[in-house]
Amino acid sequence: MKQAAVQIAPLTGLTEEEVLKLLEIPPQEQMGDAAFPCFTLAKSLKKAPVVIAGEIAAALQAAGTDAAAAGPYVNIRFDRKVLAPELLQELGSETFGKLQLGQGARVLIDMSSPNIAKPFGIGHLRSTVIGAALYRLYQEAGYTSISVNHLGDWGTQFGKQITAYKRWGNEEALQADPIRNSLELYVRFHDEAEQDPTLETEAREWFRKLEQGDDEAQRLWAFFVKVSMQEFNRMYERLNVDFDYTLGESFYNDKMGAVVEELQDKGLLEESDGALVVRLDEENMPPCLIIKKDGTTIYPTRDLATAIYRRNIMQADRLLYVVGGEQKLHFRQVFTVLSKMGYEWADNCEHIPFGLMRFEGRKMSTRRGKVVFLQEVLDEAVARAQQIIQDKNPNLEQSEQVAEAVGVGAIIFGDLRSNRMNDIDFSLDDAVSFEGETGPYVQYTYARIQSVLAKAANVSRDEREKVTDPLKGSAAENIEVNAELEAEGSHLDRHLRDHLAADAVGDTSWALLKLLAEYPSYLEKAVLRSEPSVIAKYTIDVAQAFNRFYHAERIADAPPGTKAFRVKLAARTAERLAYSLSLLGVQAPERM
Ligand code: ARG
Repeated sequence: MKQAAVQIAPLTGLTEEEVLKLLEIPPQEQMGDAAFPCFTLAKSLKKAPVVIAGEIAAALQAAGTDAAAAGPYVNIRFDRKVLAPELLQELGSETFGKLQLGQGARVLIDMSSPNIAKPFGIGHLRSTVIGAALYRLYQEAGYTSISVNHLGDWGTQFGKQITAYKRWGNEEALQADPIRNSLELYVRFHDEAEQDPTLETEAREWFRKLEQGDDEAQRLWAFFVKVSMQEFNRMYERLNVDFDYTLGESFYNDKMGAVVEELQDKGLLEESDGALVVRLDEENMPPCLIIKKDGTTIYPTRDLATAIYRRNIMQADRLLYVVGGEQKLHFRQVFTVLSKMGYEWADNCEHIPFGLMRFEGRKMSTRRGKVVFLQEVLDEAVARAQQIIQDKNPNLEQSEQVAEAVGVGAIIFGDLRSNRMNDIDFSLDDAVSFEGETGPYVQYTYARIQSVLAKAANVSRDEREKVTDPLKGSAAENIEVNAELEAEGSHLDRHLRDHLAADAVGDTSWALLKLLAEYPSYLEKAVLRSEPSVIAKYTIDVAQAFNRFYHAERIADAPPGTKAFRVKLAARTAERLAYSLSLLGVQAPERM
């Protein structure tokens, strides 16, 4: 595409950038490698698009380019023998695939944010997985990413939790299985409170004590936070996620007074039924509740204090909130209040919503106690991956680690592969399958390329199985394999133009190569839309393009010049797959 833009731009009066935006990939391979639509030029040049297309095509032909007008389009075909080596070279350069969209701007990503003493819900899983992918994608695009886990560690529910714990709980049971035990206590509280309303009074009293810094209340609260975090951290470890900051809602307790005062000073607070609210009638929204009737602050109040802190103290230029779509109104309210307070940066706050996810039709609900535990979902995915590996490759070493990478990867990939706003009904069997548009399919393709490369480097598979760690192979022992290939490759760089056989770049290798070269435009799209699925789909496309190539063209046993080209293409494909997967948070085992 870039090559086409370089050639077309001077003929149009447009910049290369502008041409690049207009260029399309022709719907059919036979039409060429790039198509330039002439509609937009019609206005400025005051000529019919068809006429312009004809003129551009003629000028390109005169310069020796294979171009043809097709109605209002100019189709261009590149000389594969010339361009293929150049593209390969470009793919191997250090800076390939890094963008400078962000210019170092600080983008703060509010992600995961589960609630203490409650199960880590599917919504929190999605927030964690999408947030972690966005974190890396923004970083790749030249932003400085900052992740914050905004724990739900404050609120009246802690009064209930303490009440229930003091009545029916004990330290041992809570320690042993914190979330399940907390949940049981929570469910029991709601069941019994239906019969016995004094429980609610007691709970309110405990929360009041907690807010006033009562020793026992504080101690119990800290204990709940600690044991919940231990369990959440196990999950984060399996998902390979960490945070730059973990700052719960309680962190803002001493920062809300100032916000309430500011709202008061700016004349935004109004009384309503004994509560204090900011009216949002003009914006067609219900009022934003700031102080409840009983004088306590609430979720939106904490989010106002949080946003101001993130902007002023953490110096965030953009504030992203990766939170389920059901909180849409909440964030619209919060951002509108910020803007009413006179903060222009409210425009840089953005809710990044996502759809619901169910597992085999089961939803999650905290109150009723009918929940899908994430830990169990991960275990089940790993068990199924283990089963498939057992069938396909019973002698695989370190199969447990590989199964973990495949099972967990399947869940992450299954989450990220469709547009984030889509609802997902998750079928474990589909997600873990090695066929179809799945994470394991991409991983399997990566492992296949590794064995092709090993074969090409004349290292027998048995030899390699002995020395390579299936998870870390690329780091250590593979260097030798790669060094051999590189040696062939550098020879290739120098002489490829002359030595490349006319038929070395077949249709399928050409299609694959072009797709690899298009990677930066996929990254850009993913970041502009905050949409990791763009990259997930890209890995599927690359894997499919590789498999077509693998079935149609010989690689390891092709004639020397051709082999060097194809081996190098395969190596670049593997790199791009592993790298893209890592951006999504999915590992790429060397063997499966
Ligand atoms: N803990 C909240 C929940 O589970 C999500 C918090 C999202 N972040 C925020 N800044 N409000 O619903």
